[in-house]
Amino acid sequence: MTSDSSRRDFIRTGAALALGAALPPLSSAPPAFEAVRTGELAGSFRTGPMEKVRIGFVGVGGQGMTHVENLLEIPGAEITAVCDIVEAKVQAAQEKTVAKGFREPAGYSRGPRDFQRLCAEQDLDLVFTATPWEWHVPVMLAAMANGKHAATEVPAAMTVEDCWAIVESAEKHQKHCVMMENCCYDRFELMTLNLVRQGLLGELLHGEAGYLHDLRGVKFSAEGEGLWRRAWAVGHNGNLYPTHGLGPIANCMDINRGDRFERIVSFSSPSRGLQLWQADQLEADDPRRRERYVLGDVNVSLIQTARGRTIYLAHNTNNPRPYSRLQLLQGTRGLVSGWPYRLHLEGRSPAHQWEDAGAYYEEFDHPLWRSKRIQDMDRGHGGMDFLEDFRLIECLTRGEPTDMDVYDGAALSSMVELSIRSVAQKGKPQEVPDFTRGRWRSRKPWPIVEV
Ligand SMILES: NC(=O)c1ccc[n+]([C@@H]2O[C@H](COP(=O)([O-])OP(=O)(O)OC[C@H]3O[C@@H](n4cnc5c(N)ncnc54)[C@H](O)[C@@H]3O)[C@@H](O)[C@H]2O)c1
Repeated sequence: MTSDSSRRDFIRTGAALALGAALPPLSSAPPAFEAVRTGELAGSFRTGPMEKVRIGFVGVGGQGMTHVENLLEIPGAEITAVCDIVEAKVQAAQEKTVAKGFREPAGYSRGPRDFQRLCAEQDLDLVFTATPWEWHVPVMLAAMANGKHAATEVPAAMTVEDCWAIVESAEKHQKHCVMMENCCYDRFELMTLNLVRQGLLGELLHGEAGYLHDLRGVKFSAEGEGLWRRAWAVGHNGNLYPTHGLGPIANCMDINRGDRFERIVSFSSPSRGLQLWQADQLEADDPRRRERYVLGDVNVSLIQTARGRTIYLAHNTNNPRPYSRLQLLQGTRGLVSGWPYRLHLEGRSPAHQWEDAGAYYEEFDHPLWRSKRIQDMDRGHGGMDFLEDFRLIECLTRGEPTDMDVYDGAALSSMVELSIRSVAQKGKPQEVPDFTRGRWRSRKPWPIVEV
C-alpha cells in the first residue's frame, strides 16, 4: 500500500540524517508564549468552514457509544449514519440519537465490510471509527476514498505500511485523518503543555510515558474488548498501545512540529500474566486455555528524537497494578510527573522537593479546562473524551487545522510495529519513518487553544 516514492523519500531522509545533515539549532529557550499562542498554523492542513458536520459512526461498542453520546451534545455535530456488525448496537445508537431530537441515522449492519456501503452511499462530512484495531485503517481508507474526512480511535494503525497508507490517502484525497488521542486533553497533560509553552520547564530533555493498565479481566471478558483484544497477544510481542502516554509528551516536545521521533529500541519481559489468568480463572474445559500468548507482560522502549531528546515508553496490560500513564517530563528548569501528579519547578518549589500539581491548576490550568462549558460536561474518562470530540467538531466547523493530524497519528502509531520489530531483533534500533517528509522542520507547534 506504500508507494515507491514515499519509501524512497524515507530512505533518502534516513540517509541524510545518518550522514549528519545539519538540523536546525535547538533554541535554548522555548518559543515565547504569545508567539505560540497566536502563532499561525502554517503547514497544517485545513478545509473550509462547515456549518454542520454530518457523521457516519462505525463501531458503537464501549468507546464508540461514549463518542456518540458526546457528539449528540456538541453543536454542529449530527450523526446521520451508524454501522456495527451487531444490529442491536446500531439500534441502540439510533435510539439515543432520536431521543436527543435528531432524525434517525441510517443503519448499517450487514457484516464486517458494511462500512464500505456506508462510505459509498451516504452524504457525510466525517466517518468516525471506534472499531477493533484491525479495522481502523480499512474504515478510514474507505472514508477518504469516498470524499469524507476520517477520525479513528487509537492506535490509528498497527503497521508502518498502514501508517503510510493513511498519510498517502489523506494527501491524495485532501482529507483530514485524525487519530483521537483523548489523553492529550486530560487536565494534567494540558496544564503541562501550558507550563512548557510558558517556559517553566526550560528546555525539554526527556520524557517518560506509558500505558500501564491491568486489562486481564477485560481481555478475558465474554463481551467488548474480550472478543478481540486478547487475540493480539497471541501473535505480537511489543508495545501494542503506545499512544495514550506518548501523545501528550509528543505535543510538549513538538513532534512533527520542530522535532520528530528518529529511532526506537524495545525489549519485552517474559509473557506470564495471561497464562496465569487462564490457569487461575478459566474452567478446565474452556477453549481459551489452549491459547498461547507471546506478548511480553512488560514492554519497555527508548525513543530518541532528531533533536537528541530521550523518551522512555512502557506498556503493561497483563499484570496486577494500579493504572498509570507515567507522564514525566524533565526540562532544564523543572520536572513534572504523573500518577500521582506532582512537579518541581526551579525557583518556585522548595529545593529538592516535589509539590502536588493540584496547587498549580489555579495559575496554569489550560484554557480548555478553565471553560465553564467544558467543566459542566463530565463525560467519558473525566471530561477528556468530551473535550477531544468538542475540539474535533470545532476545528471542522471553523475550518481550522485539527489539533492532531495524519502525520501525528502515523508517527505515534508506528511505534506498534517498530517496537515489535526491535523486540524480535533483540533490541536492534529501528528508524522511525518521517511521515512529514521533512516538513517537521517548519511546521508550527500546537498553540494553546481556547474554547
Ligand atoms: N481512547 C480511549 O480511552 C479508549 C478506551 C477504550 C477503547 N478505545 C479504543 O476504541 C476502539 C474500540 O474499543 P472498545 O473498547 O469500544 O471495543 P468494543 O469491542 O466495545 O467495541 C468495538 C465495536 O466495534 C464493532 N465492530 C467490530 N468489527 C466491526 C466492523 N468490521 N464494522 C463495524 N463494527 C465493528 C463491535 O461489534 C463493537 O460494537 C479500540 O480501538 C480501542 O483501542 C479507546
